[in-house]
Amino acid sequence: MMKGVPKMLLVSVALLAWACSLASAYDPSPLQDFCVAINDTSSDHAVFVNGKFCKDPKLATANDFFFSGLDTPRDTSNPLGSNVTLLNVDKILGLNTLGISLARIDFAPYGLNPPHIHPRGTEILVVLEGTLLVGFVTSNPDNRFFSKVLYAGDVFVFPIGLIHFQFNVGKTNAVAFAGLSSQNPGLITIANAVFGSNPPINPDVLAKAFQLDRNVVNYLQKKF
Ligand SMILES: *[C@@H]1O[C@H](CO)[C@@H](O)[C@H](O)[C@H]1NC(C)=O
Ligand SMILES: *[C@@H]1O[C@H](CO)[C@@H](O)[C@H](O)[C@H]1NC(C)=O
Repeated sequence: MMKGVPKMLLVSVALLAWACSLASAYDPSPLQDFCVAINDTSSDHAVFVNGKFCKDPKLATANDFFFSGLDTPRDTSNPLGSNVTLLNVDKILGLNTLGISLARIDFAPYGLNPPHIHPRGTEILVVLEGTLLVGFVTSNPDNRFFSKVLYAGDVFVFPIGLIHFQFNVGKTNAVAFAGLSSQNPGLITIANAVFGSNPPINPDVLAKAFQLDRNVVNYLQKKF
């Protein structure tokens, strides 16, 4: 009986350590140096795995870990006045299993990267040029809003799964770069997901949920 207790404790500690390792890195930890993804999913027999199939490591080259051109400003002449260039595992196949990706975000004056969620990644953003009003909102019931105006050289963190945005409040273009803690952080743009789903959500649901008139919901559903 007494002998069994330390064993139980050991199991609990091992389980806790395992849980902590899951919490510290959202993507599973790699079990080899790298696992360059094979990008061809066109085969009829391809199946989804948690991640991508790997290339034979002997066939990997430096280009599997390389991307060029992130110094070029992107076109921001769209209704939001922003443009996100995300280098995830689909763009740099060598990112597979490594739990990280990178984005460049360009903003026209008053350009907005609208409220969105990355379901699988925390984001750390650095402003290179311009002035950004940024913020995120915590989960229920508090829904606390954490916000800051950022200038060149300033860094801000957006925790995994929380709604956040970046808004250029300056009179010039703005540029930021962001690291994300997943090879495939995912993106849910709130307005598009709610009002632009395919097929549309029953307008009565949205009218009640957002306490809006049906006509306003119809208008928003047409817009998105
Ligand atoms: C972002 O910029 C690229 C290159 O400048 C352009 O091809 C693309 O259409 C732009 N995307 C949006 C959403 O404006
Ligand atoms: C991988 O495939 C996706 C989807 O077909 C494509 O957009 C992407 O450019 C490809 N990436 C590479 C590195 O070939």
